Amino acid sequence: MSLETVTTIAELRDRLRPGRQAGKSVGLVPTMGYLHRGHAALVDRARADNDVVVTSVFVNPLQFGPNEDFARYPRDLDADRKLLAAHGADIVFAPSVEAMYPRPIATHIEVEGLSARLEGERRPGHFRGVATVVGKLFNIVQPDRAYFGEKDYQQLQVIRRMVDDLSFPLEIVGVPTVRDVDGVALSSRNIYLSSSERAAAPVLGRSLAAAADAIRAGTVDPRAIDTVIRGVLAAEPLAEPDLVAIAAANTLEPIDPKVPPPAIALMIAVRIGRTRLIDQRVVATA
Ligand code: PAF
Repeated sequence: MSLETVTTIAELRDRLRPGRQAGKSVGLVPTMGYLHRGHAALVDRARADNDVVVTSVFVNPLQFGPNEDFARYPRDLDADRKLLAAHGADIVFAPSVEAMYPRPIATHIEVEGLSARLEGERRPGHFRGVATVVGKLFNIVQPDRAYFGEKDYQQLQVIRRMVDDLSFPLEIVGVPTVRDVDGVALSSRNIYLSSSERAAAPVLGRSLAAAADAIRAGTVDPRAIDTVIRGVLAAEPLAEPDLVAIAAANTLEPIDPKVPPPAIALMIAVRIGRTRLIDQRVVATA
């Protein structure tokens, strides 16, 4: 089947109805577009698991703060369509902001606690915007499965909790981060980096690798892990840490070194020039 582009909610529902009535499974890959190999890995996984694969391409204004990059966030639907066709997606849902939100939205989904901590403290309202648009996409598409990158680790936990709390009838599938050969996690925002900034970006992965080594050697005190990460980041003059978060991987609760969790999530956000890059790693404790 060739890739179809759909831009309205009504059209998408009409398009999906016959397949659903015939018992076909639907996989959804929500994205904000400017797709790269990381997104392709999500589509490949959805393609392997489902009869019908829908990818949404929507830069969601609800999840951007007033001083963030909504207006300049990169967009290229033609290139996205090529990647999606090459990876066997069936439908790209690319609505305008007006098609998604015909009037200012008054109803939001707030995953309390989890949304306010860590990255949520740095970006107030961000996870509320994510949960709201993802919940809306789930209602529009009614997928059997939805696919998210582990790079946005806290986002994945917020979505899992929302699905659990509100009994959305679908499975959430987390897909490992895809990296360039030098270890830099693929991100649509990497396009913002100048060549010297791009050369500095592997420091994020190096700092997480050093912390993973420390954890595997028995370090579970979050302050000691924080020092390892910041020490590596400090050696790169262009890198300015914005967030270094160390938490229990399954709950994102703070770690008590006396009762270490089975796995530790390391989540960092680092400014390189004007660009805020994030990376993540989950490490099993000894
Ligand atoms: O991860 C993203 O690209 C976005 O946060 C998502 C899940 C598509 C919601 O807009």
